[in-house]
Amino acid sequence: MKVPKRLQPLVDDGMIDEVIAQLMSGKEAQVYVVRCGDDLRCAKIFKEARQRSFKQAVQYQEGRKTRNSRRARAMSKKTRYGQQEQEQAWLNAEVDALYRLASAGVRVPQPCGFVNGVLLMELVSDGEGYAAPRLDDVTLSAEQARDYHGLVMADVVRMLCAGLVHGDLSEFNVLVDRHGPVIIDLPQAVDASGNNSAAMMLERDVDNMRAYFGRFAPELLKTEYGKEIWALYEAGELHPDSSLTGHFEHDATSVDVGNLMAVIDDVREEQAERMAPTWDELNGD
Ligand SMILES: Nc1ncnc2c1ncn2[C@@H]1O[C@H](COP(=O)(O)OP(=O)(O)OP(=O)(O)O)[C@@H](O)[C@H]1O
Ligand SMILES: [Mg+2]
Repeated sequence: MKVPKRLQPLVDDGMIDEVIAQLMSGKEAQVYVVRCGDDLRCAKIFKEARQRSFKQAVQYQEGRKTRNSRRARAMSKKTRYGQQEQEQAWLNAEVDALYRLASAGVRVPQPCGFVNGVLLMELVSDGEGYAAPRLDDVTLSAEQARDYHGLVMADVVRMLCAGLVHGDLSEFNVLVDRHGPVIIDLPQAVDASGNNSAAMMLERDVDNMRAYFGRFAPELLKTEYGKEIWALYEAGELHPDSSLTGHFEHDATSVDVGNLMAVIDDVREEQAERMAPTWDELNGD
């Protein structure tokens, strides 16, 4: 096919030998299948900031570390330089996340480079050289659904152990190749320890997966992996190979009123003692 303008510099540099086809254009980016030597790869071109949608919301950015303080100051201002830096940080987020997750053993496409706002990565394929289908495109048996659900939960755990929450995990952002699910689309990935919305987003991600796989294996609908995973994480007890049950003990202990009243009485007595005049005061010293 004709080389798209944004890919031309990569063709000129010899990083891409041929542009083969365009995959479905998403909300945030255009994705192409390209050939680099003997390998088929995927080229993801990010849209201009003003064409993008919700994912750049402040809620996702909180807690992201900017290594350079001059850059951090610039980003907080609305200058042109500040906006450019903000844009660059956003583009880098997916690349950083892919490298970090690939090395943490999460099944994501292997990143191959990032040039001029174009991310080159492994093409997740269906075994015949075509791009792999998304979860949303496939029908699963109950057994496959349970199996894939378990694999995705294990990846969510590894991801959290690597400090990240996907933030937009759904059947549209998970591909299926012959080994199972592969997680994609990470520019909005959230910093697990520095972002106040991380717990909510983790639970939302996990609940989306429960709803999807629950269509084929309804017993999954009763599970509470999201709450379980976050509770282990918060307690410092989550490990990349933690085994999960899908159950979560809600704190059902009712308030012990008798005990509470005794504590209040103690505090009141202490307060009264503190307020009471001392012996010296009573004797006018
Ligand atoms: N590495 C890959 N291998 C194969 N197909 C891919 C790969 N990366 C992306 N795709 C395909 O391109 C589509 C768009 O990619 P992606 O979800 O990363 O972009 P997006 O524009 O951010 O999407 P969204 O619509 O979710 O905002 C995916 O649904 C998938 O079908
Ligand atoms: Mg997507």
